[in-house]
Amino acid sequence: MRAGTVTPPFLAALRGQPTSRRPIWIMRQAGRYLPEYRAVREKRTFSELCQTPELASEVTLQPIRRFGFDAAILFSDILVPLEPMGAPFELTDGGPRLLHTVRSEDDVDALRIVDSREHLAFVGDTIRTLREELGTTPLIGFAGAPFTLAAYLLEGGGSKDFVRLKSMLYGRPDLLRRLLAKLTDQIADFLRMQVSAGVDAVQLFDTWAGILTPADYEILVLPGLRRIFESLEGTGVPRVLFMKGGAPYLRQMVGSGADALGLDWTFDLASALAETGSLPVQGNLDPTVLYGSRDEIRRRTREICRAGDLAPGHVFNLGHGILPTTPIEAVETLVETVRGHRPEVEA
Ligand code: CP3
Repeated sequence: MRAGTVTPPFLAALRGQPTSRRPIWIMRQAGRYLPEYRAVREKRTFSELCQTPELASEVTLQPIRRFGFDAAILFSDILVPLEPMGAPFELTDGGPRLLHTVRSEDDVDALRIVDSREHLAFVGDTIRTLREELGTTPLIGFAGAPFTLAAYLLEGGGSKDFVRLKSMLYGRPDLLRRLLAKLTDQIADFLRMQVSAGVDAVQLFDTWAGILTPADYEILVLPGLRRIFESLEGTGVPRVLFMKGGAPYLRQMVGSGADALGLDWTFDLASALAETGSLPVQGNLDPTVLYGSRDEIRRRTREICRAGDLAPGHVFNLGHGILPTTPIEAVETLVETVRGHRPEVEA
């Protein structure tokens, strides 16, 4: 924390402290719905953007300049650390594709755990560049959670049924555990590097853990999340866990060691607070509400702000990433509405 300054609302909310206004940022805020992002991206590949600190910083700043969001999120991708581990990927129109999928015991053993300072140095450089340019706006670092990254490694990309992953889960659980343990070590190292480089908060994205039974989630996923969060203990940096489809696992998310929880839109925010207890929350407008009328966007945004008034801390966000065809005016309406919100109850 920079000395002598007021705590920015985003960090105050994540610490459960009172805020001067409801902080807002949105997942995938630097991306294709922004014409200025498309302009930069036209001439370069996605990985060029991620690996060039000046470009990654520029696109990180674009949504801050346009909308004045309360936090910036590092421009990168959850798959970026897989490349130095020995699993390169490419971005296709259908989403990311791994060039080689992990199939066998040898494939798992061949994955390397690398020193992030050395092999992901461009991420540290981007963070240091951004720290200088952002002023008081906090910077969020992030990583994919081990299970979600394992799903990419095994399936080679997105999947409907996750048959390869589940075949390993039900056929060679020991091997899946080994893979998850490697990813856990890599991600913990990567996030610690991001914290040393200067991020103000970290978020773990567990996009696909929602395909597990709650019992398997508890056995396979939770210990890794706990280890990663514990390894950041004492840094003072708030740790946020976002899970897509997290509703059946809320109790486990609460016990993950995260300081705050990111909730998707299938949660009724007001009811979820009974279980999240003292933990601040982040969320949770359905991103497709932004295709609705101005009145509907306002109505649903206010509803979430009102539910958030009752939380120990609330960071407004979408329940998942913003979609590339989202109209800019809808985001303007969203931000204006959150800015106009006044809590009815004093915290
Ligand atoms: O949020 C931000 O603005 C920061 C950067 C960020 C990206 N991806 C940039 C990106 C973050 C935090 C992510 C996380 C991510 N990436 C997740 C977890 C969150 C979630 O959405 O569930 C996942 C599963 C991925 C994997 C991924 N990367 C997919 C499925 C895709 C293609 C589909 C899509 O939504 O665009 C990507 C590519 C990607 N990552 C783009 C961006 C801006 C699009 C790149 C382009 O074509 O220019």
